[in-house]
Amino acid sequence: MPLIIIGIIFITGLLYSIYFPQVPEIIMIQRRSLIPHRIKTKLPLYSNIKTYHITVKILKKKQRRIIMIIRPRRLRNGDSLRKMVRETRVDSSSLIYPMFVMDGENKKEEISSMPGQYRYTVDKLMDGLEEVLNSGVDKVMLFGIPDKKDEHASQAFADDGIVQKALLEARKNFPQLYLITDVCLCEYTSHGHCGMLHGHDVDNDSTLPILARTALSHVQAGADMVAPSDMMDGRVSAIRAELDKNGFNNTPIMSYAVKYASAFYGPFRDAADSAPAFGDRKTYQMDFHNSREGIREAVLDVEEGADIIMIKPAMAYNDMITKVKEAVSVPVATYSVSGEYAMVKAAAQNGWIDEKKIISEMAIGAYRAGASIYLTYYAKELAQYFKEG
Ligand code: PBG
Repeated sequence: MPLIIIGIIFITGLLYSIYFPQVPEIIMIQRRSLIPHRIKTKLPLYSNIKTYHITVKILKKKQRRIIMIIRPRRLRNGDSLRKMVRETRVDSSSLIYPMFVMDGENKKEEISSMPGQYRYTVDKLMDGLEEVLNSGVDKVMLFGIPDKKDEHASQAFADDGIVQKALLEARKNFPQLYLITDVCLCEYTSHGHCGMLHGHDVDNDSTLPILARTALSHVQAGADMVAPSDMMDGRVSAIRAELDKNGFNNTPIMSYAVKYASAFYGPFRDAADSAPAFGDRKTYQMDFHNSREGIREAVLDVEEGADIIMIKPAMAYNDMITKVKEAVSVPVATYSVSGEYAMVKAAAQNGWIDEKKIISEMAIGAYRAGASIYLTYYAKELAQYFKEG
């Protein structure tokens, strides 16, 4: 008997607490995992998550007022507020504009697979550089397209090589411009590979001194920074040693450390006439199925003395930007490559996408992922958009 009475009291209590719960005036409906402890504990008897949901149902039935206290939309209300709470802020000092320079005079040729991008002869390049500076970008990455190519890439490190000539002129005319050069051999070799050939093998170690020599010749001609993109093992130390030996201890190296063998480089190879004559670049550029390998490359290059690590391409590799940023403590750059540009341009020219919005979204995506430096053929446009906010 007493047991039955206790049982009745208990059940009445339970029902009472469910039907007349001491719910706080304001409670929140969120996904289970998001119910804050504070609110849970204000719930009546048996206020585990399950009872909470039952309670909410009953409350609805009884038409009690239920108010969400956490509303992410509150901070999206109006441009001014949205800008205040932005997590990613950008400015044009982080932009680098890639440019192509070729032998000859008075020529500016549009690259057919990259409308709006050009190959300049050195004299015309100066006009191009002026435009870049006027747009608010003060950093360029130079690529050379020599007239003569040979097996040994001798034009890559020649004193009167195309990049060297461009550097001398640019340095003279635009002291305020920050000049970065791509250090690689593929534009200079007759076979289009990024290193020396032994049979059909791209030989790593015999390529290193040539890369180092090329980097040194760029710096001697006025480059502020060199960016090796060849993906040979050990090239950062080889370049660092060569620069230091010649008194350029303060010239930074931005390493294309995490560079994938990517079809996104297609239009660039048209532009630079650097497609490999046979085979592909898979024995030196990375397999795009891999991410841990990318961390390994990045860490190695930092150990070898790289000052900045680049991930390339950008758009399909934003995960790598985030991972590399966590793994190393040097600044992280990413390169939105020619194929990314060509795709956006083509779709925009067809009226299929809003070019400005797409470019901005791609750029912010890269910065949000963790890049603090962004190389893009849209640098001039982006500088303008950044200014507009
Ligand atoms: C040179 C180099 C390439 C790019 C930058 N440096 C081409 C390649 O590796 O084949 C690609 C840049 C772009 O696609 O915009 N090795």
